[in-house]
Amino acid sequence: MNQIVVNADLGQATISRHIYGHFAEHLGRCIYGGFWVGEDSSIPNTRGIRNDVVAALRAVGIPNLRWPGGCFADEYHWMDGIGPREQRPTMINTHWGGVTENNHFGTHEYLDLCEQLGCEPYICGNVGSGTVQEMQQWVEYLTFDGVSPMADLRRSNGREAPWNIRFWGVGNENWGCGGSMTAEHYANEYRRYQTYVRDFGDNRIYKIACGPRNDDYHWTEVLMRNARNMRGNFLMHAHALHYYTPDAPYRLQHRATEFGESEWINILRTATVMDELITKHSAIMDQYDPDKQVGLIVDEWGTWFAAEPGTNPRFLYQQNSLRDALVAALTLNIFNHHCQRVTMANIAQTVNVLQALILTEEGGDRMLLTPTYHVFEMYKVHHDATLLPLDLHCDDYTCDDEAMPSLSASASRDAEGNVNITLCHVNPHQDVEVRCEVRGMAPSGVRGRVLTADQMTSHNTFDAPDRVRPAELETAAIQGNQLTVTVPAKSVVVLQLQGA
Ligand code: AHR
Repeated sequence: MNQIVVNADLGQATISRHIYGHFAEHLGRCIYGGFWVGEDSSIPNTRGIRNDVVAALRAVGIPNLRWPGGCFADEYHWMDGIGPREQRPTMINTHWGGVTENNHFGTHEYLDLCEQLGCEPYICGNVGSGTVQEMQQWVEYLTFDGVSPMADLRRSNGREAPWNIRFWGVGNENWGCGGSMTAEHYANEYRRYQTYVRDFGDNRIYKIACGPRNDDYHWTEVLMRNARNMRGNFLMHAHALHYYTPDAPYRLQHRATEFGESEWINILRTATVMDELITKHSAIMDQYDPDKQVGLIVDEWGTWFAAEPGTNPRFLYQQNSLRDALVAALTLNIFNHHCQRVTMANIAQTVNVLQALILTEEGGDRMLLTPTYHVFEMYKVHHDATLLPLDLHCDDYTCDDEAMPSLSASASRDAEGNVNITLCHVNPHQDVEVRCEVRGMAPSGVRGRVLTADQMTSHNTFDAPDRVRPAELETAAIQGNQLTVTVPAKSVVVLQLQGA
């Protein structure tokens, strides 16, 4: 028996659109070849930025883009990335393949990209190998309107008006690639660095501390206790958890498109650990912050498999199958349910790296939308919508000695009064009948869309870019407030119940 009760009249919390955020690092072909081709490229571009990639991301309503890393952020010196491009110094991208970074994509290019995308910037500052002064000057360069050394430098580089910058990360993975710090040490560093991340004029910065890796609950505890001023007020607006599916070292044993049912269930189950992590980190946060002043951000999440054969293993280029789409759908449903604490999330990474939404052809001009892209497009209905509480009862899906609920769901009410339900069905063998009672609403109609494919491993290629893409779902019917729908095996579904 598979049953859902959606309480259409009980919603209170808002699902921030920033939960549907993205991440772009100077890593492999994410920036260079992914976003940036340069003004002289034959690939259609606007001031060096690919038009096709921008159009695709605008279509999913990209709300924010985290940059420049990742591990790269704690080696990045922003002044190397401003001024005439041919005069910018180079550096070695030691984390990601030891390649030479020419700094042609820097602060101005990134903020131009954000303007073209219509999204908010999210900049991660360098704590690991940078200085307090360097971070302080970057904020001044970006946001100060008056006469000052950094604002004048910005003007001399062609930008008169300051930018609005809300989201600011104070370091990345400072427990690892960002300086190998203990929680106690980082909390002290955080206090010092954030002091100089100033609000100039009307600009208000939302300060994001480096959060824990996976289940490092000690990190959360220490941060919640120590990242405060002497009056006990929090000095951060949020801190950022990172969790990948699967974790190292197992990721090298998994391939993105070559797997059987054991790896299917294993990866999907591993993705749902996100729920346990958020629940436990939130419980610690609740002890220190019952009013939920501090957000939990998940600014790196997604699948991490062995790199595609023939590519540089440090470029983290992987294909993206129907299984990745289900990982995205499960994870986004989890984030929706935790939207009172989870204020933002960023899938890693937008183009050509890890669980990418978009792949671009190396040495060619083609791009493709991955199955994960289509999930973000289908789930757009939840952006800034009101989360609706629901009860879900469903059968288990089992394989080998693993088991997990066969369905995951979340529901929200949009500004027009429609109720949108997203479902993820993980059983790869059989369709399932779902009955759904919509309490407190009498829908006037229902529209369904579905993402599925022949094989668990189905994916899009440059020669067959539409093998996995959404289609209309004709199996949903509504009578009064009772919805019935046949949900196909291994699928993601979005149902829109129109308000009366
Ligand atoms: O997304 C790839 C890398 O994963 C990031 O640079 C780092 O923060 C994390 O370990």
